[in-house]
Amino acid sequence: MTHMEYQFILVEPAFQKHIALIRLNRPKELNALNLQLMLELKQALANLDQNEEVRCIIITGNEQAFAAGADIKQMESKNSIDLLKIDQFETWDQIRKTKKPIIAAVSGFALGGGCELAMTCDMIIASESAKFGQPEIKIGIMPGAGGTQRLTRAVGKAMAMEMVLTGKFIGAEEAKNRGLINKVVPDELYLDEAVKLAKEIAQMSPVAIQLAKESVLKAFESGLQEGLYFERKNFYLTFASEDQKEGMNAFVEKRKPNFKGN
Ligand code: CAA
Repeated sequence: MTHMEYQFILVEPAFQKHIALIRLNRPKELNALNLQLMLELKQALANLDQNEEVRCIIITGNEQAFAAGADIKQMESKNSIDLLKIDQFETWDQIRKTKKPIIAAVSGFALGGGCELAMTCDMIIASESAKFGQPEIKIGIMPGAGGTQRLTRAVGKAMAMEMVLTGKFIGAEEAKNRGLINKVVPDELYLDEAVKLAKEIAQMSPVAIQLAKESVLKAFESGLQEGLYFERKNFYLTFASEDQKEGMNAFVEKRKPNFKGN
């Protein structure tokens, strides 16, 4: 598969069976997220969402940095009206809208927009040396791509307030203990571990996975009662799939299910 159309990301739709990999690729700038990179990410995710072979997507950076935030050099001279016109965070909505599960495989810095990008993914696997933070306050701004909302829901008010108001970083171990991430592994294993998790997910019914992901996000983003009704509707909907019949039938027949995504 070609990577040629992208300048700042590398995309491998068939990285492994049913697993696609997107690598943020501005290593000299610690993968600072400029507008072009985010447009490319939006496009890549939309394409992978349409690709029937893909069941799980991994977004990663390199050992030194997942991403050190939005591109400060690109934003420096902008004013509020420029930002309003560019609507720079509009591209970020695509990450949230992606129907397939996304795992962030994080090593090194996940700061500002980098932390927000990781949090917009569905799960985070991190290396021991990963660092998470919302340091925008140190450059006279605040998080703008979901940091105040998603971080608060993930780690609670007190810690989110401390991180957002002081810009302090937390290490992977603390991030794990506070529920921000799923797992910490030795530095050389973060991508392997993300692939392991992706493989497990890719064995399930893609239909059920899509509806279950949507339902967990609903819980994360709405009140309990609204979330419960939403979940129930999606649960009933899984019974419209052939995969539901296959999965239950395989259970009854004590064999491994063969899910096809229908
Ligand atoms: N934007 C643009 N360039 C960046 C960048 C960013 N967010 N982060 C790092 N870089 C660049 C540096 O300018 C440097 O480039 P040059 O070699 O041309 O000088 C290169 O990447 C390497 O960075 P450092 O020399 O600073 O590396 P370091 O190891 O000394 O420090 C760091 C690493 C602590 C991550 C430091 O680079 C840093 O503080 N970066 C900025 C972090 C930040 O404030 N992020 C929030 C951005 S705003 C935002 O994200 C808004 C939002 O809500 C979306």
